[in-house]
Amino acid sequence: MAVDVLLGLQWGDEGKGKIVDVLTSNYDIIARFQGGPNAGHTLEFDGIKHVLHTIPSGIFHPTALNVIGNGVVIDPVIFKKELEGLEKLKVNLDGKLLVSRKAHLILPSHKLLDAASEQAKGKDKIGSTLKGIGPTYMDKTGRNGLRVGDIELPDFKERYTKLVAKHQQILNHYDFEYDLESMEKDWFEAIERLKQIEFIDSEHYLVNARKEGKKVLAEGAQGSLLDIDFGTYPFVTSSNTVTAGACTGLGIAPNRIGDVFGIFKAYLTRVGSGHFPTELFDDTGAAIQKAGNEFGATTGRARRCGWIDLPALKYAININGVTKLMMMKADVLSEFPTIKVCTHYKYNGEVIDYLPYNIEGDKIEPIYKEFPCWKEDLTTKTSMSELPKELTDYVEYLEKELETPIVIVSVGPDRTQTILNNF
Ligand code: GDP
Ligand code: IMO
Ligand code: MG
Repeated sequence: MAVDVLLGLQWGDEGKGKIVDVLTSNYDIIARFQGGPNAGHTLEFDGIKHVLHTIPSGIFHPTALNVIGNGVVIDPVIFKKELEGLEKLKVNLDGKLLVSRKAHLILPSHKLLDAASEQAKGKDKIGSTLKGIGPTYMDKTGRNGLRVGDIELPDFKERYTKLVAKHQQILNHYDFEYDLESMEKDWFEAIERLKQIEFIDSEHYLVNARKEGKKVLAEGAQGSLLDIDFGTYPFVTSSNTVTAGACTGLGIAPNRIGDVFGIFKAYLTRVGSGHFPTELFDDTGAAIQKAGNEFGATTGRARRCGWIDLPALKYAININGVTKLMMMKADVLSEFPTIKVCTHYKYNGEVIDYLPYNIEGDKIEPIYKEFPCWKEDLTTKTSMSELPKELTDYVEYLEKELETPIVIVSVGPDRTQTILNNF
């Protein structure tokens, strides 16, 4: 059985959590493949609104297994809080959550390094979520990291101390004050909680599951434009958020990948620093932010808003090999008389239809096509045939431009506000 992948095609926050939750009933296993607590995946159902950071979005399903893969970085403190949040909601976690021994641990000193680095960058800061993501992946690729499996080793504490000493040397180079001791107490308490969760060799586990005919959905975090290789570098995260990241982050061979579900908003948002060609600085941008409640699920920061960017979306579709698209938040645009779609850029005086190497400020100017909007409340619609013609025309236009079918149109945050389109 092939493994399907679900990932974001923009700068994150496309609605991955919602859709993974909706699709979980079709799968036996949901497996997160990269990122860490920089992610905030929101699920809404039965009047509950819940945000997950590290735990896969299949956790509310009564029987699905949830795997945190080797490509993920885990902060035990945030993970413990997530577990407590789920326990409060009486979610049964017994045997339903498994963690790869090869996943890397975020240490308190990784968070300090993240904060010190951002402070030193000043106005050029990445706008990191300050969860220690960059420094943890740096230690992974630098071959210094601590992994979940190390917790089981007798010299875990010594390994920890050695790595922290290295971090302290680096921190000494910054003009940065910190109190590590107070953070360490919580961290070691949280390690004890993490130890109660089953650790697995997730690559073997998933290979066997696949051979047994189990259906696996790989859940991505962030979005393709935040990918370390293909995103808008350096304003990106530190992992591969694209389909290839599911191969390396779970141990799934490329020829075992089945469908790739690419999620995008009917408009575009970005949180943190970095160029954003279609960003709106006017009342329309503010109105989209308000209507879409565009505030970060992890940091609470306001998300910057703009029009959908087709050259960037086509780029993401190609890099990921997207087979099916899912369009989110169409309901948010209902209040606008018209909407715009960026079809090309004017770049150094030339019209181009691809995302160039450098998208800095005045070098690039979006070229828009304007569409009449669907001035109707969509949030109670349940089928494509009920949708206003302006919206179905818009869906058809995008399918043609993007050469990929749109199989879900999402019309609200709740699980039930999900319209299937020949899916
Ligand atoms: P993720 O990181 O990709 O899982 O997305 P987030 O949870 O960070 O952000 C998506 C936000 O939009 C959340 O608050 C969701 O509840 C909400 N949302 C998801 N789909 C829709 C939709 O179709 N319409 C509206 N209005 N909100 C949605
Ligand atoms: P989900 O999974 C949106 C952004 C940060 C910052 C940059 C680097 O919820 O879609 P990092 O903390 O990784 O060093 O931050 O990436 N970022 C996200 N933006 N959604 C996310 O995750 C994000 N995770 C990181 O705002 O610009
Ligand atoms: Mg999010």
